[in-house]
Amino acid sequence: MSPEISPIQPISRPPLEGKTIVLGVTGSIAAYKAADVASKLIQAGAIVEVIMTTSAMEFVGRSTFEALTHRPVTSGLWDAHSELSIDHVALALRADCLLVAPATANILAKLALGIADDPLTATYLATDAPVIVAPAMDADMLDSPSTVRNITTLKNDGVTIAGPAEGRLASGLIGKGRLVKTDMLTGLVRQVIGRNGDYAGRHVIVSAGGTKQPIDPVRYISNRSTGKMGYAIAEAARDRGAKVTLVTAANMPVPAGVKVVNASTVDDMRDAILPISSDADLLVMAAAISDFTPAQVSDRKIKKQGSGGISMELAKVEDFMPLAHGRKLVKVAFAAETNDLEANARAKASPKGAAFVVANNISDPGSGFGTDTNKVTFVDSRGKAEPQPLMAKLDVGHAILDRALPLLAKRQS
Ligand SMILES: Cc1cc2nc3c(=O)[nH]c(=O)nc-3n(C[C@H](O)[C@H](O)[C@H](O)COP(=O)(O)O)c2cc1C
Repeated sequence: MSPEISPIQPISRPPLEGKTIVLGVTGSIAAYKAADVASKLIQAGAIVEVIMTTSAMEFVGRSTFEALTHRPVTSGLWDAHSELSIDHVALALRADCLLVAPATANILAKLALGIADDPLTATYLATDAPVIVAPAMDADMLDSPSTVRNITTLKNDGVTIAGPAEGRLASGLIGKGRLVKTDMLTGLVRQVIGRNGDYAGRHVIVSAGGTKQPIDPVRYISNRSTGKMGYAIAEAARDRGAKVTLVTAANMPVPAGVKVVNASTVDDMRDAILPISSDADLLVMAAAISDFTPAQVSDRKIKKQGSGGISMELAKVEDFMPLAHGRKLVKVAFAAETNDLEANARAKASPKGAAFVVANNISDPGSGFGTDTNKVTFVDSRGKAEPQPLMAKLDVGHAILDRALPLLAKRQS
């Protein structure tokens, strides 16, 4: 076995396991991107049923989707190899979510008017599942009064409109009209499917990443935190119906359906978190907040002087987590340690007012900064330790939310 392959397999709970997503693909130049969307949905554990319009088939072949999803593609109401030729609303009834990506100006008009002359529009009319529509078209088509009106109608009908994004369009123009990124679409699917989950109606604040304390205008002191753990917690909470605010010092793609507040320094984090924590339900401080900061910040770049080095005084940073208060707020702290894991975590819980501390030994294989997995121990305010197995970071996020849920319920009662 090569040394870089971990012998330990993390437990993983695919976020869309067992969910049926009906993916409608229409005749936009962006139709080829729908293959990536189908692939990512399959990787997230979903059963993907693809419906293609006749125009979509001019852009991509059905075999691409059939090979990715291992299921037949439906393209006509009278299509002999589709179950819709026997029961035209079969997919509508089985769908947990209908995603139309890309959506042409034409399909927006048909959906807004309630036309049902093809399998996709008939499925839209018949389904009770949440619907996400991702328009993709030339900027002029998007700006036309009809398209603007149709998008407004669909929004009023409860459809989630994803994008479109800005950038270079197939026409060569720069403008609005690009299909939003695959990660945004899969994130939205996860959000709408989880909208009635056990965190519905709750506000979860998660901090992520390593703060950067300036030395001068070009340099800073920071740490190795990448933000992956905090982002995974934010996504897990979103997938369970929470309203999520992610206060981040990391530079990772914005997760769909999560409010992101960028906070580079400890002061930024404190200013972003304290005012909103009083009304929040859960605060998970996964960010690696600097313990020390340069005592003096130079407003000019510090220049090299001769052959000697420089020394810098570091001042202690005041921990603001004890100041986060709220009538119903439950707080969860993190402790990244290299030694005496449980003892260090025990010492942290009470001064921070945390219900429990998520402690991880960053020297364990598969744990800590930059990895996709983590092995943590929950240490509660009375010092009881609950070691967890090595898991994907998303599953660690779910385990934290599972552990916090009864505490939230207790606070509220
Ligand atoms: C090369 C080409 C590219 C097209 N790209 C788009 C597009 O990106 N967005 C769009 O709304 N329509 C686009 N159209 C027009 C649609 O294909 C056309 O309106 C078609 O009737 C849509 O059918 P459908 O909505 O049933 O898939 C394009 C047409 C051609 C020929």
